[in-house]
This record gives sequence, structure tokens and C-alpha cells, in this order.
Amino acid sequence: MGANRKDRAIARRTFLGFAAVFTTAGVVGTITTDNAKARAAFDDALENWIASGDAVDETASAFTTAQTDAVAAAAEGSKVVEVTNPEMIDDSATLDALRASLDALVAAGLLTIVAPGEVTSETTAPDPRSTPEAPEGRDAQRAEAQKLATDTARLTEEAQATETSTADLEAATATALADIDAVVTSAANHGSAAEAPSLASQETKDAYAAAVAALTDPASGTASARISSYQQTWTAAQDSHAAAEAAQARGNTSGGDDDIQPTYINGILIANKTYRLPSWYGNGLTGDTLAAFERMRAEAASLGHNLWIASGFRSYSTQVKVYNSYASRDGSAAADRYSARPGHSEHQSGLAFDLNTITEAFGYTPEGQWVAANAHRFGFIVRYPQGKEGSTGYIWEPWHLRYLGVDTATAVYNSGLSLEEYLGITSVYS
Ligand code: DAL
Ligand code: ZN
Repeated sequence: MGANRKDRAIARRTFLGFAAVFTTAGVVGTITTDNAKARAAFDDALENWIASGDAVDETASAFTTAQTDAVAAAAEGSKVVEVTNPEMIDDSATLDALRASLDALVAAGLLTIVAPGEVTSETTAPDPRSTPEAPEGRDAQRAEAQKLATDTARLTEEAQATETSTADLEAATATALADIDAVVTSAANHGSAAEAPSLASQETKDAYAAAVAALTDPASGTASARISSYQQTWTAAQDSHAAAEAAQARGNTSGGDDDIQPTYINGILIANKTYRLPSWYGNGLTGDTLAAFERMRAEAASLGHNLWIASGFRSYSTQVKVYNSYASRDGSAAADRYSARPGHSEHQSGLAFDLNTITEAFGYTPEGQWVAANAHRFGFIVRYPQGKEGSTGYIWEPWHLRYLGVDTATAVYNSGLSLEEYLGITSVYS
């Protein structure tokens, strides 16, 4: 039996109705230009179905198959959205949007869904533009159309919010991965328990194992909580390892036979190119430094800034390795601009640490800018400010903080001077 033209027209209109639904979903999907592909996929399915001609009317299954194809095409289109915005499909928002819009169109009388057996010359879908209607019917249609437009706007807004949250999630993941990379790089650059296990105390090994476990155990909370816990435990592990190294160095040199003494100027311990610490000096980050860091970290976290110590205390012997590796890579003249010779590093004082990523880019991140403007409130200064190499002896290190206590740090911060300028001292190797 062949299809009559009207049946075909009705059936086509049904699918065009579906196309309208899909277009509505396309509005939801305007968050990505890829929805043009979705529409193209749908159009292809529709064309194929139309091209199948008489067969459409011959069996119910042909119609069902064609309809399934169109739905599949729409779903395929939705996958374009899924690729760029997985959460939308995960919570079925796009498919729900399709269904809701379909229902709304049916309710508005703009679309009639007919089972194949019911397609007859009497079955016509109303056309609001050309079919005379009772005024109240048109009003109802207008109201439904208005509701549809409102629903579409709401769905668009929701889709955009979903896209934003997905983007945030992706950005946070990228940051977390970069931070982990930085931990690994920093550990490699600065020496770590992992690199020299024979020097690590059992306590250090346990702390490191706990840090790794915290990172990989989903039971320990959200990804960011796990990473934060990992970072803190890692800091403790590094610190404990460095202290163990320092203790071993003291043992090797029969207990501090380097006869110079630490230098205090105006009550401030100084480690720079002019003033060096004895090789036996240092025993981890001081309690005050760690407590102040924790206060700063907590406030920063409440504002969405993730701060962590990438490199804390470094013993004299660790600094030997650090400096030598830089000097052999870049030459000592270049290394002297950013790495302290053994005995001259503030990291040995237990009052200084490097935050997050040890690159100039840190100074331009929200974290770096917040630190620059707020660290003094917790007792820290950015020890090597931009443009102060002439007095500090070092290039800008936005990541390197020095603990001075709140009063002194605030005074130095407000002066706009480097610590050397503030104290009127030099930083030059003899
Ligand atoms: N990067 C600083 C200057 C240090 O090595 O202590
Ligand atoms: Zn540093």
C-alpha cells in the first residue's frame, strides 16, 4: 500500500515537530557551536526517513524505526554537548530538556504525535498560523508558547550554569594537577625523602606514605581536600627529612665545629650573601613559622586560594645539593642570582619557605597576588621583591616568604623597602 500525500505530510510534520523540539534542545545547547552538528545529524536522519518513501506507510515498524533513528540522531547530537559538557548528560539534563519541550509543544497543540496505525486523512495536526481557531484557543496557544519560551530561557540559563561549573571543575583539576607536578618537581629540585631514602627517618617515611595515601584514598574527602592534606603532610615529611639531614650533618662534624655564629641585626636573624649561618644550624621550620603559615593558609583557603609549602626547611647539606645542581646547569654567576650558596640560604634558618609553584608566574596568580598584599598580616614578607635585586642580591621570588613576626613584617611591608634596605645592610659575597 502506498502512502497518500496527506499521510506523508502529517508524518513529516510530526517529525518537523520533533525537529522543533530538537531546535529547542539546540537552544539549550547553544553553549557550544557544535550543536550545528547535532542539527545536521537530525536533518540527515529526517532526510533518510523521507527518502524511504512508501515503506513508511507500509508497516508500523518502518515508522518506528525511522522515529528511533531520529531520536538516535537527537541523542547523537546531545553527545556533542556531552563531549564538551559531560555533566549535562550525566544528569540527563539535555534529554530531560528534550522531553519537557516535546511535552510543551504537544500541550500547546503545536505538535501531534501519532502512532503509525492512526495516521489517516482525518488526522491533522493543528497549525496555529493558518488554521482558524477560537480566540480562546489561540490565547491558550500563545500562553503555552510563552511558557515554552520561558522554559527554554530557564533551561538555557541552567545549561550555562552547568557549563560554568564544569569549567570551574576542569580549572580546579588542572590547577591541582599542576600543583602535584610542582610538588614532584620541587622535590626533585630540592632533595627529598624519596630521593635519599637512606637518610630519611622512619617518621619521614611514614609521613610520606601517609601523604601519598591521603592523595589516593577517596574516603578521605573531596579531591581538593585530599590534595590539601597531601600537601600539608608532604611539607611535614620534607621538614622532618631535612631536620634529620641536619642532625646527621651535625653528627658527621662532631657537633657544630663550624665556629661562626648566626647574625642577628635589630633582633632579626639574617641569612643573605653577606651573612652566613653555621653549617650545623637549623632544625626544621620553627613552630612560630608553621603556626603563622597555618593561619595564613586557612584564611587564604576561606577565600578560595590554595596555599602550600613547596619547599620549607633546607639543611646546609641539602643546600649544597640544590646550589650545585643549579650551578652546574646554569653556571655559578647565573645560579647566584636565584639560589643561595650553602650557609647563605634563609631556608636553613627555619624561618622561610617557598609557596606553591617556584616560578615567576606565581606572582601573577590570584594566590600570589593575595600573598603579596596580605602575608605581612600573618608575620611574613615576600623576601625578594620585584626590582630589588640590587639590595637583596636575588631576582624577584614572589613565592619565597620570610617570617619576621607581624609587627616587623608589617613595618617592612609598609616601608616598601627590601629587608636589606630596611635594616641598612648589604647582601654581597665576600
Ligand atoms: N632562592 C633563595 C635565594 C635560596 O636559595 O635561599
Ligand atoms: Zn626560597
